Amino acid sequence: MQYFIGNWKMFGVPRSINILNKINSFSSRDKNRNKYRIIITPPYTLIESFANRFKDKKIMIGSQNCYQKNQFSSDTSAISPYMIKSVGAKYTLVGHSDNRAEGDTNTMLKDKVSFALKNNLKVVFCIGENKSQKRNNKTFKVLKKQLTKVLKKKFDKKSIIVAYEPIWSIGTGKIPNQQDLLKTIIHIKKVLKTIFRSKSPAVLYGGSVDEDNIDMLRKIREIDGFLIGGASKSSKKFIDIIRNYYR
Ligand code: 13P
Repeated sequence: MQYFIGNWKMFGVPRSINILNKINSFSSRDKNRNKYRIIITPPYTLIESFANRFKDKKIMIGSQNCYQKNQFSSDTSAISPYMIKSVGAKYTLVGHSDNRAEGDTNTMLKDKVSFALKNNLKVVFCIGENKSQKRNNKTFKVLKKQLTKVLKKKFDKKSIIVAYEPIWSIGTGKIPNQQDLLKTIIHIKKVLKTIFRSKSPAVLYGGSVDEDNIDMLRKIREIDGFLIGGASKSSKKFIDIIRNYYR
C-alpha cells in the first residue's frame, strides 16, 4: 500500500473542497486505486466538513497537528486528539518541522503520539535533519534520536507511519539524490525495526515532491509513499503525481 498524503498547511476555505472533488473523481475511477491511499490534512477549520463529504470515499481526512493532552483542558486555542477524532479525522501529523520550530519537544511529541493513538487516530510522525546537520554528516544520528526519543515499543506499530522530511528540502524545490535517499530510508527502517522489534512501519518521503521528480522517487521501492505540501494544493499536480507514480 502506497500513501499519498497532501498537507495543506495554512491553505483553504470551504470552497477549496473543489480540489478534493477532482482528486476523488480521478481516484474513484483510477485502475490503480486499490494500490494506494489518499489522505489530506486541511487546516482544523475544514476537517469536519471535508470528513463528512468524503465519508466512505477514497480520500481520508487528517489533522496537521494535535495538542499533547487527551480530551479537554484550559489551554486556549489548543485542539486535542479527542476533538479531532470527534469531527471525523482518521489521521494526524505529529512533529512536522514547522511545529518543532515553534517549540514542540520530544516529551510533547511523545504525548501527542500517545494521546492520538488512544483516540484511535493513526499517526504520521515527521522527522528530518536541517541543512547544517546534513552538511556536518549528522543526518543518521539526528534521525535516530528523533525516532528513539518519541516512538516506543508499547505504541501500536500498525497505527504509525513515519514521514522523512529533510527540512532543507521543504518548499525549496531541492530533493535528496537517489542514493542518499535510499540509504536514509533504509537507516530509518532499521531504527524502527529495533524500536518495535519487528517489521518497520511504512516510511514516506516528503519535501518538494512534484509531478516531475516523482519519476526518480518512484524508483526507490523502499519508499512507502509521499507527504506532499505545495503540490497538494493543485488537483492537477496531485493527480499527476499519482499518475506518474504508476506509469
Ligand atoms: P513541500 O512539498 O511544499 O516541500 O512541503 C512538504 C511538507 O512539509 C509536507 O508536510
